[in-house]
Amino acid sequence: MRTREFFMVMSIALIMEATMAGTITAATFTPSGMLLEQAPSGHTVGKDNGTDTGASQGNATHMAGNDCGICHKPDGKAGSYVFSMAGTVYKDKAGTMPLSDAEIILQDAEGNIISMTSNSVGNFFTYAPIAGDPAYGSDLESSRNWRYKAWVKYGDFTRHMVTLAGVGGSSSTTARMSCNMHHGWQGSRGSLTTGDFAVLSSYPSSGISFYTHVLPVLKNCMACHKPGSISTITSYGDEKYDYGAGLDLSAYEKDAKSSRGIPDIVNVSEPDQSLILLKTTVGGIHAGGSFWNQSSADYQLIRRWIAEGALNN
Ligand code: HEC
Ligand code: HEC
Repeated sequence: MRTREFFMVMSIALIMEATMAGTITAATFTPSGMLLEQAPSGHTVGKDNGTDTGASQGNATHMAGNDCGICHKPDGKAGSYVFSMAGTVYKDKAGTMPLSDAEIILQDAEGNIISMTSNSVGNFFTYAPIAGDPAYGSDLESSRNWRYKAWVKYGDFTRHMVTLAGVGGSSSTTARMSCNMHHGWQGSRGSLTTGDFAVLSSYPSSGISFYTHVLPVLKNCMACHKPGSISTITSYGDEKYDYGAGLDLSAYEKDAKSSRGIPDIVNVSEPDQSLILLKTTVGGIHAGGSFWNQSSADYQLIRRWIAEGALNN
């Protein structure tokens, strides 16, 4: 009951916050300003996709998962094709299943929307300019001062970038611009994955085990909800920000530095009202985005495990 009441209070506050953030004019790049921003809409999906013009076609599908910016930078190996942004998106956190037709949305410091779609290997790339943010420096041409928010959308599912990121490089001639630079497969904060894809190939209909079945699903959460991690962002003053909300999902019992753990976000008498599901289901408001809907295999699994007593088994 406590969990449910807590959620209701939280959700009213969060809806208000999301509504206020809903109108996009110039971007606000404070950690709290980015936290729950909904993806922009109303633009043409894929309008900023780059095209593969080269003599040897097929490059658009090369190097999936690699840091495109290593070569696609001025004076780099692919210096004739300098992208402003590129990367690869996956179905799974381990980066083994590419996701095609996902939309990657960027909003820059002037509020411009850049939309790309992922191709057959999950790659996306664009030459669209990204505006500099005067709060970072007066040289708006310098890639170091470019600023953006980012969302990955697939069907009803959306993840957004909760961290602040510049593009890299010290000037417009040394720019390095690839999401893959930070979003590798090894549990970086919010890998480029989205959509409703069951983590394990099958689940039993009863006798769910936390360690065998549920924990592998929660690996999708650990980029943010790891033990006791509080980050201090200094670029915009001293706003202190915990990207995982003090919630440790790395084990059944939370570690000493975290304020909440699994037992605090399950509701055994009303499983569907568990915060672990409400937050992460399409329609919920969650900085980490949506992972499933109520009919998804992973949702049903967690629901059954909670109904069976949310055991530490
Ligand atoms: C190790 C270096 C390297 C990496 C990493 C790399 N590329 Fe390339 N890429 C090249 C080179 C070299 C060419 C130019 C080939 C040519 O001249 O035909 C190229 C060409 C391309 C082209 C063709 C551009 C055009 O209009 O002809 C696309 C598209 C492309 N790469 C996308 C990507 C993406 C997306 C990534 C990251 C997932 C990536 N590349 C990573 C070296 C790289
Ligand atoms: C990209 C980072 C990120 C990922 C990945 C992520 N979350 Fe979150 N989550 C957050 C942030 C930030 C908050 C605090 C803001 C909010 O409530 O949305 C949060 C809040 C929550 C809360 C509410 C905690 C509380 O005490 O109020 C729950 C429950 C939750 N997440 C569950 C999950 C689950 C389950 C997953 C994986 C299936 C997941 N999250 C993945 C960032 C993330």
